[in-house]
Amino acid sequence: MTQLPSEDRDSTSPKKRRKYDRYVTRTSTLPERGYGCIALERPTDQVNIGHALRAALGFQARMVILSQPAEGLNVQRIKTDPGRAYRHVPIVRTADLFSTIPEDCTPVAIELTEDALDLSTFVHPERACYIFGPENGSVSEETLERCRLTVKIPTVMSLNLGMTVNIVLYDRAAKMRRQPKSQP
Ligand SMILES: C[S@@+](CC[C@H](N)C(=O)[O-])C[C@H]1O[C@@H](n2cnc3c(N)ncnc32)[C@H](O)[C@@H]1O
Repeated sequence: MTQLPSEDRDSTSPKKRRKYDRYVTRTSTLPERGYGCIALERPTDQVNIGHALRAALGFQARMVILSQPAEGLNVQRIKTDPGRAYRHVPIVRTADLFSTIPEDCTPVAIELTEDALDLSTFVHPERACYIFGPENGSVSEETLERCRLTVKIPTVMSLNLGMTVNIVLYDRAAKMRRQPKSQP
């Protein structure tokens, strides 16, 4: 247990001292704050979905939401997801995306729109759910309206869905990691 300096110990009542001791010894050891999860809107292509699941597993996304996925999609057998992400990352199918997003988690639409924020300078919310559009379409108008934040990867043309998921999750991982407490 961490010891207080003697002058602090002497100047506090026993009750306060106990409280302080407890506070000091319960410092969080979490390596980073918050979490990221992803949502795919109306995904259809197994290959792309597999790449997205692989990225979710690799970058330790906490949840994958499949909003109105194509019928017959089997996430347990996708060649492009050799790590079988469903075994390690909760995958939830839903017809109502916004009721599935976790408590106090900020929805962030990922779409190449004119007024979207640029990912390169984007500050990620502590708890974020990144919403991606389908391979053959875009994030729905309704979703864009409900998201306070829309972010684009600065490209001159749209990217492959799986690639986009990888870039966004990498960007979050790179920016959100805590600085090491001391350099060797
Ligand atoms: C393959 S894209 C859809 C095709 C696109 N609507 C088109 O026809 O040009 C699938 C999804 O990837 C994401 N995406 C692709 N490129 C992006 C970019 N440069 N910035 C942000 N999101 C992107 C979006 O969520 C998009 O809805």
